[in-house]
Amino acid sequence: MKIGFVQFNPAFGDKAKNCRTVKRLLAHINADVILLPELFNTGYAFLDKKELADLAEPTTGETSAFINRLAKEKGCAIAYGFAEKTADSYYNSMAFIAPSGTISTYRKSHLFFEEKYLFDKGNTGFHVFEYDSVKFGMLICWDWIYPEAMRTLALKGAQIILHAANLVTPYCPDAMITRAIENRVFIVTADRTGDEIRDGKSYHFIGMSQVVEPGGNIRMRVADETVANYVEIDPNAALHKDMNQHNDLFLDRRAELYFK
Ligand code: ACM
Repeated sequence: MKIGFVQFNPAFGDKAKNCRTVKRLLAHINADVILLPELFNTGYAFLDKKELADLAEPTTGETSAFINRLAKEKGCAIAYGFAEKTADSYYNSMAFIAPSGTISTYRKSHLFFEEKYLFDKGNTGFHVFEYDSVKFGMLICWDWIYPEAMRTLALKGAQIILHAANLVTPYCPDAMITRAIENRVFIVTADRTGDEIRDGKSYHFIGMSQVVEPGGNIRMRVADETVANYVEIDPNAALHKDMNQHNDLFLDRRAELYFK
């Protein structure tokens, strides 16, 4: 399976431009599954709920229509982060869209910093879904710091974790090596780059999008360039949870001892 990411610096509030950038970056590559960053279409630093309300979309909105067209055109599944609007809530969400249509959506469970005043806490839980005979799970940025989130997806059988991010702290890329080892899964992180300075608020996004293999090997990691790229992996490598002939990571768990 050819799996990869797009990393770029989204222009705040300019959904048409950000969609054009993604289309241009994907024109050169032919992957099976591509991941875009968290909130790739809108940018990150909403000043207030009004601004969020103007840019957020239902799961069937214009960005979903754009990704559906692109997925069909390229014969490639695309997962992406967007601001979701429902009748009475706003979520920091992700969707996974195959050439045949939407397969899964996820709402960010662990909100970071001032996201808490804009978005509602995600209520989807951690789903595993199948595409092309491979099991996937999705996480959004700050979810990474809760090992329980990825563990839940791994225990449910996920082989590949798609992690859409807007990283502002430096810890995640290396932490994902441990997450991959402890769960024996592939982890793709698509981060954004650049700075958003809006009304005195300043965010710097670190880039460093990557693909980490179940053994912890960093198969591909970029710096802060604008890039779309992929690697070819064997997702079955994530099916084996044994570390040696005596230790199976999942069978050896002592759930009865863990704090609930
Ligand atoms: C983050 O969760 N976007 C840091």
